[in-house]
Amino acid sequence: MKSLNEKKQIQLAEEEVKKYASIVESDPNRLRYHLMPPVGLMNDPNGLIYWKGAYHVFYQWMPFQTTHGAKFWGHYTSRDFVHWERQAPALAPSEWFDRNGCYSGSAVDNDGVLTLFYTGNVKDDDGTRHTYQCMAVSSDGVRFEKKGVVVHLPDGYTAHFRDPKVWKHENKWYMVIGAQSEQLDGKAVLFRSDDLMHWEHIGAIAGGEDGNFGYMWECPDVFRLSGKDVLIVCPQGLQPEGMHYQNVYQAGYFVGQLNYETGQYVHGTFTELDRGFEFYAPQTMVDEHGRRVMIAWMGVPDQDEDQHPTIAYRWVHALTLPRELVLIGDKLYQRPIEQLQLLRSDEVHHPNVFLQKEVRQFDGVKGKTVELLLKQIDGKGVFSIHIQNNVSFSYDFEQKVATLERESFARNGMKEKRQCLLSQLHTIHMFIDTSSIEIFLNDGEEVFTARFFTKEENEHISFQTNAEASFHLSKWKLC
Ligand code: FRU
Repeated sequence: MKSLNEKKQIQLAEEEVKKYASIVESDPNRLRYHLMPPVGLMNDPNGLIYWKGAYHVFYQWMPFQTTHGAKFWGHYTSRDFVHWERQAPALAPSEWFDRNGCYSGSAVDNDGVLTLFYTGNVKDDDGTRHTYQCMAVSSDGVRFEKKGVVVHLPDGYTAHFRDPKVWKHENKWYMVIGAQSEQLDGKAVLFRSDDLMHWEHIGAIAGGEDGNFGYMWECPDVFRLSGKDVLIVCPQGLQPEGMHYQNVYQAGYFVGQLNYETGQYVHGTFTELDRGFEFYAPQTMVDEHGRRVMIAWMGVPDQDEDQHPTIAYRWVHALTLPRELVLIGDKLYQRPIEQLQLLRSDEVHHPNVFLQKEVRQFDGVKGKTVELLLKQIDGKGVFSIHIQNNVSFSYDFEQKVATLERESFARNGMKEKRQCLLSQLHTIHMFIDTSSIEIFLNDGEEVFTARFFTKEENEHISFQTNAEASFHLSKWKLC
């Protein structure tokens, strides 16, 4: 049973949804096939799990305003990863251990019981922060009962200790937590349990030392893929380095081998997951076919969050498309989940396109909700694709640089860009959803994710080269 206070909080949130549903719906920038909040602010995806025939996506949710605050866990379910149904909020801040927010966490199936782990965030009147790792359970997958605190803050860390990700390995449960050491280094900290209630602190498996890799690590996730152990994490406090670390905070991964007995993790260097503007707090899960799937927040904390035009319509932020992860060597490739093909209609093909010093538009290739696929790309000079006269993707065949450029929604339409090196380009797979774009290069070798906002209704898509470019072009309308 939920406490009276939690029930009351959930009722207030539902009233907010009802009150503003038509305003959110009327926003020309609302998304059509991405998860977005019914009202208010959405941030991290939480508790991703395939459970009893359905995919569950929970998310950090502030129903009452479009800024951060005492978070709820919102909840969506789906049978196929593309058609989603909104469920009642799973968790609301209500108890002494989570009164200032049910912060990020994860889900596991414990013998048929859907079990959530989350961070109870507490702030005293004088601003002192407390953190508790908490548990909640459900037997039907929609009504959750809090079970209270299962992990207290161990010695050696500040109260920036959160975002438990739990998984099973050889009959034991493990939990990795994002942390800040007392020396102010970001860390990923490992715990072990036999019963999900009692947790043994193993220690930090990775982290910075003497300030060399950020002051806080958020939202860690550990999983095995192709015989290697991957740690995804979000370090805060990295300085920009050339084309790297251009956003306020980063999201990336290490690949290595984790010794579950000692907690020793031997790993390579950090690689960014996404090269665009809005991408943070990714979480992974295993789907019904055993594939590793990742969803992230299409936003970054403290990065122009109060400038999004959608705020005028009472909502802000969204989640990325689900992406299948594949490890090739020590590189994670991200591929848009196959089921997205269920949304396709109005198929158009332009095979054997050849462009020479020109700008071209193609019959049937335009729209606000579009999937574009360019294959067997070849060329010289710079090739670019322009969308809604606002955002463009380009590849420089000479410099071997991929660039995403957009009109800033925070700095008066000023042009801003993100870039990465790419030794060759053969495939571009692009998903446009009204005010979001996700671009997968070379079957997921690099990905650019971003939001963009045009002033008027605009369905424009054009292709340009200052030398020459050839490719096969396919386009679908989505939903
Ligand atoms: C990451 C994060 C998490 C925290 C949550 C609060 O975006 O700061 O570390 O649990 O958001 O909403």
